[in-house]
Amino acid sequence: MISKSTIARIIDTAQIEEVVGDFVTLKKRGASLIGLCPFHNEKTPSFYVSPSKGIYKCFGCGKAGNSINFVMEHEHFTYPEALEFLAKKYSIPIETTGNVVEEKAIELEKDSLYIINTFAEEHFIHNLFETDEGKTIGLTYFKERGLRENTIRKFKLGYSINDSTDLLKAASQKGFKPDQLRKAGLITQHDSRDIDFIRGRVMFTIHNLSGKVVAFAGRSIKQNDKGPKYINSPETDIYKKSGTLYGLFYAKNEIRKLDECYLTEGYLDVITMHQAGIENSVASSGTSLTPDQVRLLKRYTKNITLLYDGDTAGIKAALRGVELILEEDLNVKIAVLPEGNDPDSYLQKHTADEFKEFIAANAKNVILFKADVLLKNATNDPVKKAEVIHDMAETVAKIPDPIKRSLFIHECSQLMGIEEQLLLSTVNALRRKKMQSETNVSAQEARQMEPDTTPFHDQDKNTLKPSGDEVQERDIIRILINYGDKTIGNEGITIAAYLAKELEDVEFDNNLYQEILNENKTYVAENINKDSKSYLNHDNPNFAKLAQEVLFEHYDLSPNWENMHNVSVKKPEANYFQDIISAVNRLKHKKVERMKRQTELELKTERDPEKVAELQKKHMLYQSWDVALAKQSGTVISH
Ligand code: CTP
Ligand code: MN
Repeated sequence: MISKSTIARIIDTAQIEEVVGDFVTLKKRGASLIGLCPFHNEKTPSFYVSPSKGIYKCFGCGKAGNSINFVMEHEHFTYPEALEFLAKKYSIPIETTGNVVEEKAIELEKDSLYIINTFAEEHFIHNLFETDEGKTIGLTYFKERGLRENTIRKFKLGYSINDSTDLLKAASQKGFKPDQLRKAGLITQHDSRDIDFIRGRVMFTIHNLSGKVVAFAGRSIKQNDKGPKYINSPETDIYKKSGTLYGLFYAKNEIRKLDECYLTEGYLDVITMHQAGIENSVASSGTSLTPDQVRLLKRYTKNITLLYDGDTAGIKAALRGVELILEEDLNVKIAVLPEGNDPDSYLQKHTADEFKEFIAANAKNVILFKADVLLKNATNDPVKKAEVIHDMAETVAKIPDPIKRSLFIHECSQLMGIEEQLLLSTVNALRRKKMQSETNVSAQEARQMEPDTTPFHDQDKNTLKPSGDEVQERDIIRILINYGDKTIGNEGITIAAYLAKELEDVEFDNNLYQEILNENKTYVAENINKDSKSYLNHDNPNFAKLAQEVLFEHYDLSPNWENMHNVSVKKPEANYFQDIISAVNRLKHKKVERMKRQTELELKTERDPEKVAELQKKHMLYQSWDVALAKQSGTVISH
C-alpha cells in the first residue's frame, strides 16, 4: 500500500490546474479557470477549475472532484494507479506501508508466477509452430477454424504435447522447480507423481489488463474425448476467473475509442471478431457476468452489447447477467444471433460489415428484450402475466438513474399493455423496501425517494426536498468544511471550535452530518486544525463526496449569475463569520420552536396537575431560549 505521507505529498504537490491543464485548455475567469469539459461534448465551456480549492466541476455533466479524481476519471485509473501517475508527474518517490518484507515477498512470488507462465506460453507456442505433433494437429486445427497465422501469433495461441511430462521436463531443464509449476497450476499430481495439467490440447493464453500471462485454457480436439471441452488453469495468486475478461488487453483501446463493447461467451468468438477487425470484443468465458467483470468493463465504457447464441441457454445466460449490469448503471443491449450461431460461426459465413449490420438491426435494449421474452411465455394467462409484471418491476427497480427508470417504466408498460401507474407504484414500492433494508442509507436519502404517486400528483405533496432541519444542518456543515480552520472573534477561536462548543448538545437529523460533527469534536479536543482540502481527501468516501458538493455550493446556483444580473456577489469568504453564527442560531431556533410546539401539544391533553406544571415550566424555559436566540440572530443580521 502507498503510505499516507506519500499520498499527502501527492495531494499537496499536484496542482489541480496543472493536472487538468495537461488534458484541457483552460482560461482564467475570475478566481477560477474554465474550459471545455473533457467528460462530455460541449461547445461552450462549463468546466470550472478552482486552484485555491484544488477542485474541478463541470456544470454541464456534473462531474467534480480533486486532482486524483480527475486522472481516475479521465484516464480510467484505479485509485492507486492515479496516485502512481501523479507521483511520476511530480517525481515524488512512492513509499509503501505495511510489512515491507512480507509485501516484497508476495510481490516476488507473483513475479515468479508471471515468469513461469511466460515460459509456459513460449513453450506452447514453440510446440504449435516447431514440433511435428503441434503442426499437424494443433496448427491444422486452428487453420481449419479459419484463423490466420498473424492472428494465431497475436493471441499467443499454442499447443500442449500429448505427453504427460512434456512441459514439466522442459521447465525443469530451465531450472524451474516442481513446486513453482504446481503453484502456477501448470502441473498436477497423479498417482503421486507430477504430470502436466493440460495435455494434447490447443492452448489459449489468458492475459491480464497489462498483457501479462495469468492462465491458460486448453480445448479438446480429439473426436471422442470424454473430458471437458475446455480445461482452464486453476485459480492462483494472479488468476481469478470471475475477475477476468478474455481479450480485454487487446480490446481496451478500441472499446474506449468507440465507447462501446461487444461481450461474447467464447475464446474463439473474441479471436474471430478481432481477426475480422471488430476489436472492441471481449468474452466472459462461458459464465454469466460477474460484478468484478462489470466493474472492469466500466473503466472503459458504459455501453455494452451482449452477443449471444439464439438458443434458450444463451438467452437465459444473457438475462442472468442483466440486473448486475443495470445496477452498475451501464447501458446494455442484446443482439441474439440466429439459432445455433455464436459470433465465431456467424463470421465464418458472413463478412464483418454484414455482422455489424446484423447487430445494428437486431440489438434491443435488454430490459425491453426481457419483457418481450417473458411475455411470450405468458400470453393469455393472467396469473403468469402478473408474475411477469412483478419480475419486470424488479428489473427496472435496479436502475439507479431515476430518469432512465421512468423511461423504462413508460416503455415497458406500453409493451406489456398495462397501465404505467401500476408498474410505477410496484417499482417504487420495491425501491423503498430495498432502501429500508440497506441500513447504511441515511435518513435523507430514504426521504428523497420518489413518493408512491403518479407524475401528475399534486406537486406540493412531493417531499423530494430534504425536510426538517437538514437544510440548516447542511449549511453548518458547508461552513465547517469550507472555513473550519478560520478564526473568528477577538479570542481567535476557530470556526471548528466554535461549532464544537455551540452544538455540544445538538443532535443532527442527518447521520452523515452528525458523523462529521462528531469527528470535528475529536479534532478540536486534540487541537488539530482541518482545512477544506483535508475533507476533500478524507479517507471516508462519503465525507469526501460531500466536501466536493459543498465546496461548490455557492457557485452551484448559476456560474453566470453575476454576469447575467450585472451585480457583484459578495465573496463567500467574507461572510463566514456572520454565516456561521446565524446558521447555528437558525438551527437552534428551529429546534427550540419544535420543542415548544411539542410541549404545547402535550399541555392540551395532560390532566395530571403536577405534570401540567412541569410542562409549563419547560415551555417557559423554551420561550426564554427562543427570545434569546431571536435577539442574537437579530443583532447579527443588523450588523
Ligand atoms: N467454457 C469453459 N469450459 C467448458 C465449456 C466452455 O470454460 N467446459 C467456456 C469457454 O470460455 C468457451 C465458452 O465457455 O469459450 C463458451 O463455450 P462454448 O460455446 O461451448 O464454446 P465455444 O467458445 O463456442 O468454442 P468452440 O467454438 O470451439 O466450440
Ligand atoms: Mn463457438
